[in-house]
Amino acid sequence: MPKVKKSLAPKRAASARVSVKRPLREKISVNKVSRSAAQTGLNEMLRGVDWRGQLYDGQVVLLDQTQLPQKVVYRNVSDIESLRSAIISLVVRGAPAIGIASAYGIVLYLVPFAVKAKKATALEKPFKHAFERLVSSRPTAVNLRWALERMRDCFERHTTDLTAIELCARLLMEAKRIHREDAELCARIAENGMALLPVGGGVLTHCNTGALATGGVGTAIGCILYAHQAGKQIAVFADETRPLLQGARLTALELQRAGVPVTLICDNMAAHLMQRGRIQAVMVGADRITANGDAANKIGTYGLAVLAKHHGLPFYVAAPYSTFDLSLKDGMDIEIEERHADEVRAPQGTVFAPADVQVANPAFDVTPANLITAIITERGIIHRPNAKSVAKLMANGHSSPAI
Ligand code: MRU
Repeated sequence: MPKVKKSLAPKRAASARVSVKRPLREKISVNKVSRSAAQTGLNEMLRGVDWRGQLYDGQVVLLDQTQLPQKVVYRNVSDIESLRSAIISLVVRGAPAIGIASAYGIVLYLVPFAVKAKKATALEKPFKHAFERLVSSRPTAVNLRWALERMRDCFERHTTDLTAIELCARLLMEAKRIHREDAELCARIAENGMALLPVGGGVLTHCNTGALATGGVGTAIGCILYAHQAGKQIAVFADETRPLLQGARLTALELQRAGVPVTLICDNMAAHLMQRGRIQAVMVGADRITANGDAANKIGTYGLAVLAKHHGLPFYVAAPYSTFDLSLKDGMDIEIEERHADEVRAPQGTVFAPADVQVANPAFDVTPANLITAIITERGIIHRPNAKSVAKLMANGHSSPAI
């Protein structure tokens, strides 16, 4: 039975509605974000995914994002098909978060086999099955495949030196490490990205890139949060993000709870606000970044990049190394998830289109690298990204040693 809490009152209510453009020359003092201030911000965040229990009785706990902001419902998931459905139906969503949830999902699936088997090699077939079921749940965000491949590497390293149950324990350690590391990646991205945000300016963001979508403070939202904590006095415009309203339901909620001034807009209002000088920068996340710097993100992101270019505004993408897919030359090779027509015909269950009208519902689009001012990663910032600069950054390598 899912637990239901009553309501989700934001930490600061009406005072969070600041949308006035502040002249850029006005002096605002910017504080250094101390580690503890950053931690405090994180502690107040909602956690989208968690592991509860030990190895034998473990469960994946998901905060059901389809019910936010009206209800806080946690779902305890203990089998892989329920987890797969939760990912498909966006109970858990956001590129890093679905990677983390899937890593835990591998453990969920393997433990019952390990209880009956002695040798770890007996888990090879079940592992393959779990990998295939999870990797096929959502096609665009590469973090999902990245996390599963990391679990596979760990699995393959230990099939001969550990027993079946020891291997499961090692895999749980690896899944927790992926989770913990994502929190660290988010914090480093936020530290790098906050400097780019304009003091006293309006920042437009799209979809949801916060704690709900990651294992930490978020990517684009992380940068925004750190900039806010540093006293930069930014005013955020959150696109509602049709058709599933991640911006309205999740980003508005997360920013309100963190006390960041946020103004919700319909997606089609961005051009007008840019024209009137209310927006000084656009910052979004990404689901997959190809070798040349093209970035797939929530549908509508590409349009914002075109608008930003037209209005001479910087367009920033914030993402960890796990979002890069160097196997693809450019963004045209990215598989774009096509979702159910009813999400467009009947958003949130309210029908307002003819029942049989034809619908297109691509969940993501691709922003070409030449429209991106900079990609912010935990390893640093790639200004004017291209194949050379992406390759250079990614060659820096991942610091965490294999276990
Ligand atoms: O369909 P969703 O809600 O999973 O899409 C999420 C996004 O597009 C996010 O912007 C992206 O995953 C980056 S999250 C840090």
